[in-house]
Amino acid sequence: MTPDRMSIKTTIETEAWELIRGSITYYKGDPIGTISICDQQQEVLNYDHCFIRDFVPSALLFLIQGQSNIVRNFLEETLKLQPKTNLFKAYIPSRGLMPASFKVITKNGKEALEADFGEQSIARVTSVDSCLWWIIILHAYVKATKDIRFAMRPHVQEGIALIMELCLAARFDMNPTLLVPDGACMIFRRLGIYGYPLEIQSLFYAALRAARKLLICAGDEELVTAIDNRLPLLRDHIRHHYWIDIKRLNVIYRFKSEEYGQNVENQFNIYVDSIPYADLSVWLPKHGGYLAGNIGPSQLDTRFFSLGNLIAVIGSLTTEKQSQALMNLIEERWDDLVGVMPMKICFPALEKEEYEIFTGCDPKNLPWSYHNGGSWPVLLWILTAAAQKTGRTDIAERAIELAEARLRQHEWPEYYDGASGSLIGKEARRYTTWTITGFLLAKEFLRNPEYLDFISFDEFDLENDVRFCDI
Ligand code: GLC
Repeated sequence: MTPDRMSIKTTIETEAWELIRGSITYYKGDPIGTISICDQQQEVLNYDHCFIRDFVPSALLFLIQGQSNIVRNFLEETLKLQPKTNLFKAYIPSRGLMPASFKVITKNGKEALEADFGEQSIARVTSVDSCLWWIIILHAYVKATKDIRFAMRPHVQEGIALIMELCLAARFDMNPTLLVPDGACMIFRRLGIYGYPLEIQSLFYAALRAARKLLICAGDEELVTAIDNRLPLLRDHIRHHYWIDIKRLNVIYRFKSEEYGQNVENQFNIYVDSIPYADLSVWLPKHGGYLAGNIGPSQLDTRFFSLGNLIAVIGSLTTEKQSQALMNLIEERWDDLVGVMPMKICFPALEKEEYEIFTGCDPKNLPWSYHNGGSWPVLLWILTAAAQKTGRTDIAERAIELAEARLRQHEWPEYYDGASGSLIGKEARRYTTWTITGFLLAKEFLRNPEYLDFISFDEFDLENDVRFCDI
């Protein structure tokens, strides 16, 4: 790299850091999070909130920079927002839930935090991913600071336990995966992902892994056993039923249907005509594969969802072989999955009747826009982490170069539109915090691969988890 190029990069990064500083929100004098846009001149709606999921790249960056106090304050304050009792009332969040977002307000002359669990959000969607991300952030905080005593404190242990109880509760379902409504994760509008969406399952697996380590240290045997009962079943279920490559497509293509009994092959009674097998057979490279978007009764959603697939790699939910195949797919289907802006949130977009039926004619989710096949620069850090984990750093370098050339020039948009990601998102906010932090974090990961350790998990191994307590 020439010195010139290096200094250009440094300028972009310095500027980006300036913007991030402007997004930090303070409560009673202490920094407790980052709000979702840095420039509040724009129409705000709830973009002046600190979203739990949006804070993830901020948290990792602060940990890398040694500003762990912000992350700790965030964990402490959000924990206070988590309901500790079950009122068994509708419209009231259940015990253990974490809000989608919160905001600092002034009430009777005093500062207070106002949370949104979905009771105010557009379409009243409840975030399931918040409590999973919260545990992942806590685990990263402990790894980065070695402050295991914080996680051992009774109120923090209680917070983890309540989330676990919520996730592992008795319910009308026997699958090891989590059954959730539409809009429960980053895609928080209707997009036909209700049921068992991959994003939630990948985060669930990572959160179980993190919670297990944090609970073992405090000796919570009952919950650890409950997690142990779930973890391997969840992992094997995803590795088997969600995986799609040419070999598996051949099996699915010849599925028999209406099979009854324990040992049947087509357990979910998938009708092959419901999946685009002809297109898939051309699209799938010889050595490529990915995890499907969703599996349910007679439903196999073959759309590719980036966040769920990449987190599966980072969390070792996929096998080493599957992770490599996934990176092969990204490399060989670059134009579809990355295009000119890393990276598509899902592929392909829903079009025509499918768009109308699945989105409810949502004008924001038109084909190749926003959640429906739009490109989200925040995914850059997750792509970089997955690329590093699999030893495929060239993929990350290529992606970062693409983003770097356009993001600042376009004032850090929330998302891009179009089949190749060449259009700035129709209703995209500018100076979006997680676009900026996603870019900065990707750069940090590239420079110092050891930071990947904050967020990544090795293959599930009982012994290793115990060693975590001596951190
Ligand atoms: C977006 C995203 C959501 C994000 C929020 C705030 O529309 O869909 O995942 O948390 O806005 O940035």
